[in-house]
Amino acid sequence: MRTISFFSAKGGTGKTTFNMLLASWLKYEKGLRAAVLDFDSPEFNLSYTRKRELKYLQNKGQAPDEKQLYPILEIEDYESKKSLQIVRNLMIDAAGSLDVLILDFGGSFNDGDPVLDLVQAGLVDLIVIPLEMDGMILSSGKSLASVLEQLGQKTLLFFNKVHGKEKPQLYVELERWLAEDGLTVSTHRIKNTVKLRRDADNGSNFLRSTVSFPCKEMQEINPELIQLFEEVSGYGGD
Ligand SMILES: Nc1ncnc2c1ncn2[C@@H]1O[C@H](COP(=O)(O)OP(=O)(O)OP(=O)(O)O)[C@@H](O)[C@H]1O
Ligand SMILES: [Mg+2]
Repeated sequence: MRTISFFSAKGGTGKTTFNMLLASWLKYEKGLRAAVLDFDSPEFNLSYTRKRELKYLQNKGQAPDEKQLYPILEIEDYESKKSLQIVRNLMIDAAGSLDVLILDFGGSFNDGDPVLDLVQAGLVDLIVIPLEMDGMILSSGKSLASVLEQLGQKTLLFFNKVHGKEKPQLYVELERWLAEDGLTVSTHRIKNTVKLRRDADNGSNFLRSTVSFPCKEMQEINPELIQLFEEVSGYGGD
């Protein structure tokens, strides 16, 4: 079992969006056994999206067979040490029956936060950090990745919400700046895509979904996203 988390210490950078889409791609497109642990209490955005989608589909008389969906487990009231043991046991139990476990955390990185606990316990294979053209997000992403690497945690950075108006040279310079700390940046830059935005709360955003992965549409709209998923999951090509 491989354990992956899109994570950043900044809010609204795309953690939940990418964790959700990665789980959906692995399960519905690659046919792999995926599950999500949602640590982002009390909002549980990822888990909430699933509930909203199910309600929307049930109202339309199109309820999916829930056994065909990947499980999303809410980790409530995380408490350092006690909860870490519970999560560790959960992961040991799941190891034989899952290919990929995805972790969605809130945007805080302090002592006692689940992300730091799990990293220190060596329970995460890869942390993928979204960057965007914003000074605070860039510097916070660089220091997060450096701290994680110093803890022995494998990381990968990538540029998200790319508009295409930025000068290509800017990315080259930023990549050089990140390489100063020995950090790895993905060559796959993710476009800012209106259809990826969190929609009005009605469960009808088919592109940003926990119950399906419209691969053909995604290939057309944002092909780099699939290439990034192939890179982070190790499940490339066919
Ligand atoms: N490539 C993209 N194109 C367009 N919108 C995007 C892209 N990536 C993320 N977003 C949007 O950015 C917003 C924040 O994303 P998301 O909720 O996934 O971030 P988060 O890091 O999980 O936030 P939080 O810190 O609140 O948990 C959402 O509206 C999401 O749809
Ligand atoms: Mg989130």
